[in-house]
Amino acid sequence: MKMDNPDAIQSLFQPTFGNRPEQYIGRDGVIDKFMAGLKEPIGSRDRCTLFLGQRGMGKTALLLELSDRAQKEGYVVARVTAHEGMPQAIIEQFQLNGSKYFNDEKRKLTGVTAGVLGFSFGLTFSEAAERQYGFRSKMSLLCDKLAEKNKGALILIDEVRTSAAMREVAAAYQELVGDRKNIAIAMAGLPHSVSKLLNDSVLTFLNRATRVELGLISTNLIRAYYEKAFKLIKIEASDEILDRAALSTKGLPYLMQLIGYYMIQYTPKHGVVTNTIMDKVEKSALDDMQKNVFEPILNPLSDNDRIFLKALAHSGGTVSTAKLQAVLGQKGPALQPYRKRLIEAGVIESPRRGELSFAVPYLSEYLLGQ
Ligand SMILES: Nc1ncnc2c1ncn2[C@@H]1O[C@H](COP(=O)(O)OP(=O)(O)OP(=O)(O)O)[C@@H](O)[C@H]1O
Ligand SMILES: [Mg+2]
Repeated sequence: MKMDNPDAIQSLFQPTFGNRPEQYIGRDGVIDKFMAGLKEPIGSRDRCTLFLGQRGMGKTALLLELSDRAQKEGYVVARVTAHEGMPQAIIEQFQLNGSKYFNDEKRKLTGVTAGVLGFSFGLTFSEAAERQYGFRSKMSLLCDKLAEKNKGALILIDEVRTSAAMREVAAAYQELVGDRKNIAIAMAGLPHSVSKLLNDSVLTFLNRATRVELGLISTNLIRAYYEKAFKLIKIEASDEILDRAALSTKGLPYLMQLIGYYMIQYTPKHGVVTNTIMDKVEKSALDDMQKNVFEPILNPLSDNDRIFLKALAHSGGTVSTAKLQAVLGQKGPALQPYRKRLIEAGVIESPRRGELSFAVPYLSEYLLGQ
């Protein structure tokens, strides 16, 4: 954290999706495991990882962090969001991010028209290669070229889902690994993005990947970050206030950003955070949660899904399946299909056999307030 810079105050907490947090908290284990995988032989299972997490759990932030670390370990990174143009976007990202290692060649080869091995200069394909080759061949050429500079290729795919483009990338990855290219892949998505169409070839690929569930992060680590951050900008927060702030995040990274952000917004410069301020902070943070987390989660659900969730909320948020069926009544929807679907969607979880609870903090309270 850069103390003397007035902009630092603004960058301490940024409650927006898809940004890189000032400090990435509480995922050392996940990051270390992935980085260790990159050191393993080509084709090792840990070189193909799938991160699953609910909204605001920090999937995009994690990919940004991995991108940074992998570059320091000798990887050129292509980071894309899954969409139909993804294969081409991946190629372009490698060309763009890898070109700095080929600056010298560009100069040397000025005036040379016909490129060697499919390239005209640097990572730019020759016209013929551009025309004739598809994703897999281009990736193969790029991997070879990067290997000349001792660089590996890391593909990062955000918001992963099954699609024709994903099928093409998955198939190419497997073939490139078969050809011993130094390539690795990390993907991130919502829990239900990989729960459908179990016989799809993409799903086979995703299911074989090392699967990492991104859960809530430690409120102790959040508290420590709050303490450090507020000291830095000379806002006074007592132990009691720090406890309250950390606990009210319930370990959700997005909420951690929101609460920190509003604490700074609502406290006078170099002032003291009071419980009255915290009431306002929590209210604003939960309003944002409603808009950006609860509603996107609930919108695609059916009426019966909602009835199910409301019954769960009314039962106190954690309940045995037997009791829940009793609350729903004999005429209510049968439990099993909803239970299964909502677990897959990452809305509820089964902490213990025969028990259900909400997987997203404050969703229960939100449903009760509706
Ligand atoms: N480990 C972390 N430490 C600190 N801040 C984090 C962490 N993870 C995420 N954040 C912050 O939380 C917010 C939400 O993170 P992010 O955008 O990565 O969520 P997401 O899982 O990709 O959500 P969505 O499914 O909606 O895309 C961002 O402001 C991000 O900077
Ligand atoms: Mg995201």
